[in-house]
Amino acid sequence: EIARLDALEILDSRGNPTLAVTATLGNGVKATAKVPSGASTGKREAVELRDDDLARYNGKGVLKARAHVETEIQNRVRGFDANDQAALDKALCDLDGTPNKARLGANAILGVSLAVARASAADRSLPLYASLGNESANLIPAPWFNVLNGGRHANNSVDFQEFMISPVGAPNYSEGLRVAAETFHALKAILQKRGYSTAVGDEGGFAPQLKSNEEPVELILEAILKAGHQPGIDVVLVLDPATSELFEDGEYVFAKSDKSRKSPEQMIEYWTRLLDQYREIWALEDGAAEDDRSGWQQLTKALGNRIQLIGDDNFVTNPKIFRQGIKDGIANGILIKLNQIGTVTETLECIQIARENGYGAVISHRSGETDDTSIADLAVAAGMGQIKTGSVSRGERIAKYNRFLEIERELGARARYAGASVYERWQA
Ligand code: PGA
Ligand code: ZN
Repeated sequence: EIARLDALEILDSRGNPTLAVTATLGNGVKATAKVPSGASTGKREAVELRDDDLARYNGKGVLKARAHVETEIQNRVRGFDANDQAALDKALCDLDGTPNKARLGANAILGVSLAVARASAADRSLPLYASLGNESANLIPAPWFNVLNGGRHANNSVDFQEFMISPVGAPNYSEGLRVAAETFHALKAILQKRGYSTAVGDEGGFAPQLKSNEEPVELILEAILKAGHQPGIDVVLVLDPATSELFEDGEYVFAKSDKSRKSPEQMIEYWTRLLDQYREIWALEDGAAEDDRSGWQQLTKALGNRIQLIGDDNFVTNPKIFRQGIKDGIANGILIKLNQIGTVTETLECIQIARENGYGAVISHRSGETDDTSIADLAVAAGMGQIKTGSVSRGERIAKYNRFLEIERELGARARYAGASVYERWQA
């Protein structure tokens, strides 16, 4: 059972404070989880509790959340069965008492929930993916590698936040990783040759000053070819323009590039044209803003039977909000971020809802990360075949990709690679 909780204020990959929580069981087994932090957050995400003490870390300290873990939460959950994740998570939600974990902080609660999940796995001598899922979990996802960053993740001239590649044609995960890394290096060479910066953004993708929001697509297609792979077959593209960040007074504003404004209808026309032009793009995340419900519905009607449409800011990994979105005919997939909701149980519930409704589920990191690799295991446990966890650079991103290599080796002949399989239903 849970004997002790310790929390530490550590730094994330952007140099901002976050929490590391260690759960110790009665038999001495212990495990640590580190909490990530987003920049382009959805409005309805669970609350990340910050100290707001401007004398420390510009107000971003997490000492209050740390104290909640070591006092109130520890007092409540001491003696709990670490293997009963659902009961633990329910107790955490009840103890907080708010609908969005605002009192104790979703960072405090997730730290505890995930640390206990890890401790439970260790206690049963199971890898986390087998402990969270079931012992037959063996599907390794085809990642979305975010090789070019814009929007709020880079101070460049690109409005869209993420330009990703997915090596869907590879025979297995490790070959897919190689293809992605080769493409990344080819992209670097192309940028260098054109006199563009090869410095990277928050998620490890390049962040050059480009001439338009479409130029990244052209450069990436060129890089795939240069690396010796076939765009649209070996490697496909995925965009997360994070349009909630562009939405102002009912319009989409391209403030970083050409300053143009688009109505929701014009935005959908834009996506339709772009997808007609670039058949290599197989998925679009947050193609409409969280506050643009009718735009999301129209987008889904227009493109939902053709490509994967992932909801991030609009669903915020919240089972209740997600169910309503499905009823409203919004998207055909969901992005899954543990800290948007704050417990392992509610996260797994969202994945289950996706599965039951024929939606895709893409496990995701945040732009502020640590070396914690739990989401790699979660992706294998979920068995939904997709994850996004940054580019093939920056240690906090690579940690997850390397974790899959370990899992692949551990599974041996049992390992399967998702490849293009998840997209088949949109390509009839
Ligand atoms: P965030 O961005 O972690 O900064 O919120 C990730 C995303 O929008 O998918
Ligand atoms: Zn997103």
